[in-house]
Amino acid sequence: MSDSRRNVLPARPSVVPMTSASPVTEQVTEPVGEHVTVDPAILYFGTPVVLLSSLNEDGSTNLMPMSSVFWLGRSAVLGIGARSQTARNLRRHQELVMNLASPAVVHHVDRLALTTGRADVSPWKACAGYVYAPDKFAVAGLTPLGSATVSPQRVAECQVHLEAVVREIHPLGAQPGDDPDAARQLAVEAEVTRVWVDPAVRLAGHADRIDPDRWRPLILSFQRFYGLGPEVHPSRLATIDEDHYRVPRAPVRA
Ligand SMILES: Cc1cc2nc3c(=O)[nH]c(=O)nc-3n(C[C@H](O)[C@H](O)[C@H](O)COP(=O)(O)O)c2cc1C
Repeated sequence: MSDSRRNVLPARPSVVPMTSASPVTEQVTEPVGEHVTVDPAILYFGTPVVLLSSLNEDGSTNLMPMSSVFWLGRSAVLGIGARSQTARNLRRHQELVMNLASPAVVHHVDRLALTTGRADVSPWKACAGYVYAPDKFAVAGLTPLGSATVSPQRVAECQVHLEAVVREIHPLGAQPGDDPDAARQLAVEAEVTRVWVDPAVRLAGHADRIDPDRWRPLILSFQRFYGLGPEVHPSRLATIDEDHYRVPRAPVRA
């Protein structure tokens, strides 16, 4: 393929341009399916499950199962309930570990559901069946491992550990003029300081790459657990060499 040809994108289907005079409901030109509008209470369409380690006030590690998370470059953004023990811990001590769960550890993850590290369980959580669990490793039957760049411990049974430090905590869903401390959810922005992987998920022949055929994340979709199926289509994005994304980094403490 010639260089000039490679840079040509296929034509896009025509859409009506958005203007302030035309409300969103007028943008659809013709129906392409049998869609109906719905009003779900949750929008959890499927994201990876993480066991998030944070430091309790007494120096022990709290574990929170969570799945509202994404990564961009070396940054992670985590959606965390503001009244959780984890939120309280991260405000006080800005270090964490994201232990990525795979289907092999789902029974451990499930044992942590409906638990909180907060002794004062909120009325909403109590009503939903949550109980106070000060030692999450014991509850889940998981093994703590020391970390290299942060104080919270890692989870030995997880194949991937991302040590990180909190950079910013943003209130989520706040309206202008709202008290930021009253937000019910937080977006925690963290920078990854160390990546640990089980050699079983490394890409053969590459020191610093993960093989997506070997790494199989546990997925939470509408409160239920799933695994990933096999690859479904060749990826044009994957024609970009991974090292093209690498940016120079300041050294972190060992
Ligand atoms: C699989 C799974 C995924 C969850 N995802 C989230 C999440 O993304 N954000 C969140 O705030 N809570 C999530 N929760 C609920 C928290 O785990 C729950 O609020 C817990 O009590 C927090 O623990 P902590 O109070 O000890 O920090 C999830 C629970 C499970 C079992």
